[in-house]
Amino acid sequence: MKNDVKIRNEMLSWYDAHARVLPWRSKPSERPDPYYVWLSEVMLQQTTVQAVVPYFEKFISIWPTVHDLASATQDDVLREWAGLGYYSRARNLYKCAQAIVSEHDGIFPNSVKTLKSLSGIGDYTSAAIASIAFDIPSVVIDGNVERVISRLHRIDAPLPDSKTIIREYAQNLFIGDNTDRPSCFAQSLMDLGATICTPKSPKCEICPISKYCVAFEHCDAQVYPKKRKKSKIPEKYGVAYIYVHDGKVGIEKRPEKGMLAGMVGFPTSEWNEDSVDNIDDDMSAYKIRHVFTHFALTLYPQIINQKTYNMIEFKEVDKIGLPTLFKKVWNMIESDL
Ligand code: ADE
Repeated sequence: MKNDVKIRNEMLSWYDAHARVLPWRSKPSERPDPYYVWLSEVMLQQTTVQAVVPYFEKFISIWPTVHDLASATQDDVLREWAGLGYYSRARNLYKCAQAIVSEHDGIFPNSVKTLKSLSGIGDYTSAAIASIAFDIPSVVIDGNVERVISRLHRIDAPLPDSKTIIREYAQNLFIGDNTDRPSCFAQSLMDLGATICTPKSPKCEICPISKYCVAFEHCDAQVYPKKRKKSKIPEKYGVAYIYVHDGKVGIEKRPEKGMLAGMVGFPTSEWNEDSVDNIDDDMSAYKIRHVFTHFALTLYPQIINQKTYNMIEFKEVDKIGLPTLFKKVWNMIESDL
């Protein structure tokens, strides 16, 4: 498209003046550390910049290089990841670090194809690392970029149906006639989406590319991208078993497969779509609800008499890396124990 080169140039000038300062980014004239780019991109999958920043800083202070991370244990990594959610990311991160060290001499590969062969690196993350860390022109489409392109072209089809057409437009924009400074360009679109072309109340009056934006022309940018109606997620129910004795509480490591695999937590029943036997929802002393991606879980914590295997001091509970589901359980019952 004839405007693509102009849009790129406007975006690069805007980025030079307005790039967000983020801990994984380099100074303007320097290349970023590929380890930082990879770690941040994995953390940023399904998670906001604001939530990621403190985790990123903690990880690089504990493990400043990929060699350090590879020589940690998986349990250490899961414990530090606790609270960030989607724990398969942490297991893949650890596996990937080990492969980088053992199969790539500790050096991140700079081709999309090789990056994609590594654990936890798919289409988006390989393109993001190739372009941000290595300045290789790649089509980097995250939620921000989807929104910017949907508005620029005023795409009427709802997401996810519109993904194919968005990719076609993105292909021309990212790899068209001019592919100057691919790293800055990809990040400029992310920053525009996060700060100006926001989901609600976009700030079109200060947008550097509003003159190319069809939705702006129609004064309805906030309507895009349209989304297909969500189907309701299923509700599941379960019991968390809390055994308390002598200032200690029983915890277990969860199996290596399934939800929250390998994380620590309180023992639970299976989580099913049937309500739980012997529990009257209205009469239950404790109840927490936690929404995962594909279902919502209502968990009823119950104090039990039967001893569980691993007993830890109350004061240690906050330090063992409980996932958010079990933190909610503990916060609810601790003051009553
Ligand atoms: N979201 C995903 N990757 C990002 C990055 N590198 N900078 C800012 N936001 C992002």
